[in-house]
Amino acid sequence: MNKNIQRCGISIQTMGVMMVLLGVISLGLFSFDRAPGGGGAAGKDSAASVRAFAEVYKVLKSPRCMNCHPSGDQPLQGEDSHVHTMNVQRGEDGKGLYALKCSNCHQSKNVPGLHTPPGNPKWQLPPADMKMVFQGKDAHELAKQIMDYNQNGHKNKAQLIEHARDTLVKAAWRPGEGRKLPPLSYPAFLKAWDAWIGNGGYAPGGH
Ligand code: HEC
Ligand code: HEC
Repeated sequence: MNKNIQRCGISIQTMGVMMVLLGVISLGLFSFDRAPGGGGAAGKDSAASVRAFAEVYKVLKSPRCMNCHPSGDQPLQGEDSHVHTMNVQRGEDGKGLYALKCSNCHQSKNVPGLHTPPGNPKWQLPPADMKMVFQGKDAHELAKQIMDYNQNGHKNKAQLIEHARDTLVKAAWRPGEGRKLPPLSYPAFLKAWDAWIGNGGYAPGGH
């Protein structure tokens, strides 16, 4: 009788220990599966990412963005992205050369009227040592470049997401009289931008 109870007690204890162990193991597996970079659940969906970038790309290549991300050392102007008049140059810091500083003509706000310079307190090109060229880049190249810490102004993913809220990016949706808006609304752009980066910042297939 006594022995029986004891045996029973031991086996219940053993079962308890086994169940706890099983629980720990399955919890461990579960959280391993959820770990960032572990695949599946951490929001790394390359198809959704690439789809979102197709929308982002349309905005990047629109004149409102590309005119400040030229392949040469002069900003661009207009819907046809012609080279900026008056021989305006990038300069080392992106703020212009000699007497032709961007801020001489580009005020902190848009000036009313057609063909007046758009305004923003931060108006300038990217600096000469990191030109962040959009012009002439296909979708694959541009996605790679923007995700590259050494080409994007040393931005990690969180800072890239933040950059879409930057005043210069927003300025594209207040372009001044006579200029077209980017092809997506600002909220639609933010949604696509966040989905692209949040799902892993994948580049569409190369060529
Ligand atoms: C001498 C005056 C002057 C200087 C200096 C100047 N700009 Fe401009 N910029 C203008 C004017 C005027 C326009 C508008 C032209 C138009 O709409 O026809 C303009 C338009 C632009 C546009 C086109 C905006 C758009 O949405 O298409 C960009 C980009 C630009 N400037 C960048 C710069 C940068 C960067 C610098 C400094 C490196 C600079 N500009 C220096 C006068 C100037
Ligand atoms: C007035 C010029 C100007 C306009 C207009 C402009 N940018 Fe930029 N952009 C810059 C400058 C200058 C930098 C570098 C400063 C920085 O990184 O904060 C930059 C950096 C960037 C970067 C990070 C660098 C990279 O290539 O990864 C992104 C992304 C970007 N811009 C996107 C845009 C988008 C999207 C638009 C249009 C909606 C836009 N920009 C319009 C001047 C401009």
